[in-house]
Amino acid sequence: MKAGKQPVILFPEEDEVSAPMIPPAAFTRHLAGLAPAALFLFAGCTGPQSALQPSGAAAREVAYLWWAMFWAGTAIFVLVLALLLYPVFRQRARRWRIPPLQMIVAGGIALPVVALSILLVFGLRAGSGVSADLPEDAISIRVTAHQWWWDIEYVDRRDQSRNFTTANELYLPVGQPVELLLTSSDVIHSLWLPRIAGKIDLIPTHTNRLVVEAEETGVFRGQCAEFCGLSHAQMAFYAVAVPQEEFEAWVERQRAPAAPPSTAAIRAGKEAFDASGCVVCHTVRGGGAWGVEGPDLTHLGSRLTIAAGTFDNTRENIAAWIARNEQMKPGNKMPEFPHLDRETRLSIAAYLESLQ
Ligand code: CUA
Repeated sequence: MKAGKQPVILFPEEDEVSAPMIPPAAFTRHLAGLAPAALFLFAGCTGPQSALQPSGAAAREVAYLWWAMFWAGTAIFVLVLALLLYPVFRQRARRWRIPPLQMIVAGGIALPVVALSILLVFGLRAGSGVSADLPEDAISIRVTAHQWWWDIEYVDRRDQSRNFTTANELYLPVGQPVELLLTSSDVIHSLWLPRIAGKIDLIPTHTNRLVVEAEETGVFRGQCAEFCGLSHAQMAFYAVAVPQEEFEAWVERQRAPAAPPSTAAIRAGKEAFDASGCVVCHTVRGGGAWGVEGPDLTHLGSRLTIAAGTFDNTRENIAAWIARNEQMKPGNKMPEFPHLDRETRLSIAAYLESLQ
């Protein structure tokens, strides 16, 4: 071929392409090869944060919707694949001949209208639970999202002075619908507790409402589901669903002020906490700390994790967090205190651990 001249690709005459171009056995082999991969993927469908293992009424609706979409999608995929393969395997002379306009009306208008209408019915059903009416005395919890943690205030509707605040951990009484009133202090976040409820945005200057109900006891992981900055992926929380009596006991403990130091070592930790400036940003009710920039620490010792579900709540982790939190959760707003020696940091951690 001379330079600059495009090669000419010759297609065979249409009628010559009547035999299957790909042997059916090869297709079957490929599909069989995909089966173990699919099983492997399905193994990831359970766990503390799986929307496919619902433990709440709203999450069950979402799971129904997901399965409806999955099976509808699978059916449409199979149909499209069949239509695609039909001309490959069927000899040309024996194919159906459907006028192009009818094909467009059936495949491009009728099929999407039917499929989307069915999904809309499922979607409306799943969405209705989000704003369900609740009895007057239902538990109400205000959740304010911050970069990158959750401020959680339990509201007493009759007596606001009985409200109390915690962070990054949501206690729920099993079998009782609870109202979450959700907003944000900075950017848009999204609260998603996949095993209990659907997700909803937290928007500055606006309050959204979500009704959640845990149907069984357990610890369920939640996650911010809207990109909100550097540590978005480390903006998690845990929901702890417990029987009613246990929930009431927890509420009483949380409502109480922090316990005074019970040993000399814990007292030394509190003194270091007060002297290091922690009180400027954190609240310890009854402990003389009234900062509001960071999470309320009044009962930090009772929580499962620190840094919004990012690390286990241990003395070592708290001590490390005080000095190196930027490495542990990049971009977080807390200053580092590398000048505090390890002894002092462990002592502060012991004090925080004592706040049960
Ligand atoms: Cu908050 Cu993503």
